[in-house]
Amino acid sequence: MPKLIAEAYDTPEPAHATLGRLALLGGEPAFSEALHVGRPNIGDREKFEARVRDILDQRWLTNSGRYVQGFERRIAKLVGVRHCIATCNATTALEISVRALGMTGEVIVPSFTFVATAHALQWQGITPVFCDINPQTYNLDPRQVEEMITERTTGIIPVHVFGRPCDVEALTRIASERGLKLLFDSAHALGCSYRGRLIGGFGQAEVLCFHATKFINSMEGGAIVTNDDELARRIRLMKNFGFSQYDRTDELGINGKMTEVCAAMGLTSLEAMEEIVAINHRNWDTYRENLLAMIDSKIKGQKVVEAPEAHIAPVIDIMEALKRTLEIKKKPVQAAFEAASADEAVATEAEAPKKKRAGGKRG
Ligand SMILES: Cc1ncc(COP(=O)(O)O)c(C=O)c1O
Repeated sequence: MPKLIAEAYDTPEPAHATLGRLALLGGEPAFSEALHVGRPNIGDREKFEARVRDILDQRWLTNSGRYVQGFERRIAKLVGVRHCIATCNATTALEISVRALGMTGEVIVPSFTFVATAHALQWQGITPVFCDINPQTYNLDPRQVEEMITERTTGIIPVHVFGRPCDVEALTRIASERGLKLLFDSAHALGCSYRGRLIGGFGQAEVLCFHATKFINSMEGGAIVTNDDELARRIRLMKNFGFSQYDRTDELGINGKMTEVCAAMGLTSLEAMEEIVAINHRNWDTYRENLLAMIDSKIKGQKVVEAPEAHIAPVIDIMEALKRTLEIKKKPVQAAFEAASADEAVATEAEAPKKKRAGGKRG
């Protein structure tokens, strides 16, 4: 395993060869101590510490310092857009983008997403209108979007759920034909692509997330990426209280700035991106070889999106398939999935590990 991220992944390889040997069914737990799903990747710790020392030496802690500027340049180059504005988190990035785009009234969002997509609207008096998803892709179904448009609709916020790209072409066509703003919540989709084009340059803008649980993280952090010069100029003002000059505000602003230490973490994390993606691909291959092979053929037919289009979705597909397999074995799905994960010592919640069952066996 590559040196940089070995630390983040130094868990024993699970050795189950058949479903019958799952800890849930009496086998040995896969991991000797709780393995957290979403455990942060740290990258090269020494480089990060050197950057933090430099930040402290320079006494430039926030307000668009060298590290934030460097991080913004790296992200803009990576996704191939003209502008990247780093923020303190993706929720604030969504709120600022929604306001800068002039969304009002009703905005269509997927019924399956993280709560922040909807809160960013409701927080500013805009009604999130929940639209059905395509059950194969978990993403907004464009046909249903068309049916939900009313005279109050001003925009659409599609989400590339688990990094699997939305039907960007259909959504772009609908937004343009109906005169709606199109803002992508791309919190899961850094480095993913749609028909060979990297996520980041679609719609009027896209919002990225660098929360600690994301594969590239800045501890807390987000970014708005866009090719629209005027939109970028306004967003830059809005995320810094609206200040255009020392004592003058030209926009109703908020404090949405990323700190220098967060940017240092983001830069360090980005340097490990290739290796992290390689590990994710390796994990995907392991899941496919060891798990898909042994589950019901109906489930095997489930649509799976291969990398590099999406680097998270395939694993989720297999988790879903496993859930259904357990259901076939007459366990209530959610309870069975949670029990199977806990017995294998996999903590599926980001917070505290679940109480460990003695011997990893179920009573
Ligand atoms: C789809 C989606 N949108 C928005 C967010 C909010 O991100 P943040 O925690 O950086 O505010 C998340 C967080 O995971 C997310 O999954």
